Amino acid sequence: MIDPFGRSITYLRVSVTDRCDLRCVYCMAEDMTFLPKADLLSLEELDRLCGAFIELGVRKIRLTGGEPLVRRDVMTLFRSLGARLGRGLDELTVTTNGTQLARYAEVLRAAGVRRINVSLDTLDPAKFAAITRWGRIEKTLDGIFAAKAAGLAIKINAVALKGVNEDEFDRMIAWCGEHGFDLCLIETMPLGEIGEDRTDQYLPLSLVRRRLAETWTLEEIDYRTGGPARYVRVAETGRRLGFITPLTHNFCESCNRVRLTCTGTLYMCLGQDDQADLRSVLRRPGVTDADLREAILEAIGRKPKGHDFVIERRGAKPAVARHMSVTGG
Ligand code: GTP
Ligand code: 5AD
Ligand code: SF4
Repeated sequence: MIDPFGRSITYLRVSVTDRCDLRCVYCMAEDMTFLPKADLLSLEELDRLCGAFIELGVRKIRLTGGEPLVRRDVMTLFRSLGARLGRGLDELTVTTNGTQLARYAEVLRAAGVRRINVSLDTLDPAKFAAITRWGRIEKTLDGIFAAKAAGLAIKINAVALKGVNEDEFDRMIAWCGEHGFDLCLIETMPLGEIGEDRTDQYLPLSLVRRRLAETWTLEEIDYRTGGPARYVRVAETGRRLGFITPLTHNFCESCNRVRLTCTGTLYMCLGQDDQADLRSVLRRPGVTDADLREAILEAIGRKPKGHDFVIERRGAKPAVARHMSVTGG
C-alpha cells in the first residue's frame, strides 16, 4: 500500500475501545462520554479487517484504546491476530496503561506478543493520581513487573508535561536502566478539548534533550521500530531513550501508519480528520475480502501529507476535535 506521497503503509494501530479506567489530563476531558456499545465492531469484525490490511501489506499491528485491556474478551482478538504472525504479520503489540497487565501478561506472551509499551508519566504516586485523575500507581507498577516476569520487553511512554514531570526524567532514566526498560518521552499533542490550555502543558523535547545531555551520555544509534521515536542510547544505563517530537521535529515524511477505531472508522492521520467508514463496507450483505481491500486502498489514496499541530499559541483550537482516546495515539 503506497500513499500519494510515496509512503509505504505497513503499520496498523487498532483502537479496540474508547473507554479507559483512567483519565489522563492530556488525553481526555474529565467528563468524557463514551460510545454506546452497539456502535462497536465485534472482535471477529476487527480481526477480519486486520486480515484485509495484512493482505495489503501491513506487517505490524498495535492494539490501543482508550485502554485496550479493559475491553471484554480482548484476549480473543490477541489470539486470533497472534495466529497471523509469520503469515504476513511480523509483529503484534499493544500500548497500555498497565493496570490490567498483572492479569494478562502471560496470556499476551502466549498469544505471540513480545514487546509492549506502557504509559507511565511519573514515578511519584501523588503525581500519578493527579495526572490520571484517580489512578493508583501500584496497579500500573505491578502490571509492569508482571509483564517483565512474563518475558515481555517493555518500553515506558512518558508524556513530557511542563511543571509536572519535567523534574523526574533523570530519575525515570535511572529507574528504567535499573529494570531493563526503554523509555520514550513524548510531546503533548493538541487533540480534543481537555478543559485546559495545552500551552500550559507543552514542554519542547529539544529543550529536554539538551538538559539531559548535561547529565547523561546520549549516544546516537540507528534503531528503528517503525514508530515515530528517534532513539539514543544512554551510555550510563545501556538502555534506549526515545524522543517523539511531533512539534519540534516533525516526522510525517516517513509516516507508515494508519489508525482503525473500534467503530470501524479509519483515520489516515492522527492530526487530521480524513477518514473512511469501513464498518458500513464490512456490514454490506455478501461483502468479500476484495471489497474490503478496495475500500482500504481508496482510503490510503487520500492519506494527507501530515499534521498541522499548533500548540504554542495560547487559546489555539485543538487540531482535531476528537480526543486521543478515540485513536489511542
Ligand atoms: P513503537 O512500535 O515502540 O515504536 O511504538 P509507537 O511509538 O509506534 O507507539 P506508541 O503507542 O508507544 O506511541 C507513542 C506515541 O507516539 C503516542 O503518543 C502516539 O500518539 C505517538 N504517535 C504514534 N504515531 C504517531 C504519528 O503518526 N503521528 C504523531 N504525531 N504521533 C504519533
Ligand atoms: N499527546 C501526546 N501523547 C499522548 N498520549 C495520550 N494523549 C496524548 C497527547 N495528547 C499518549 C499516552 C500513551 C500513548 C498512546 O499516547 O500516554 O502512551
Ligand atoms: Fe487512559 Fe491512556 Fe488516555 Fe491515560 S492516556 S486516559 S491511560 S487512554
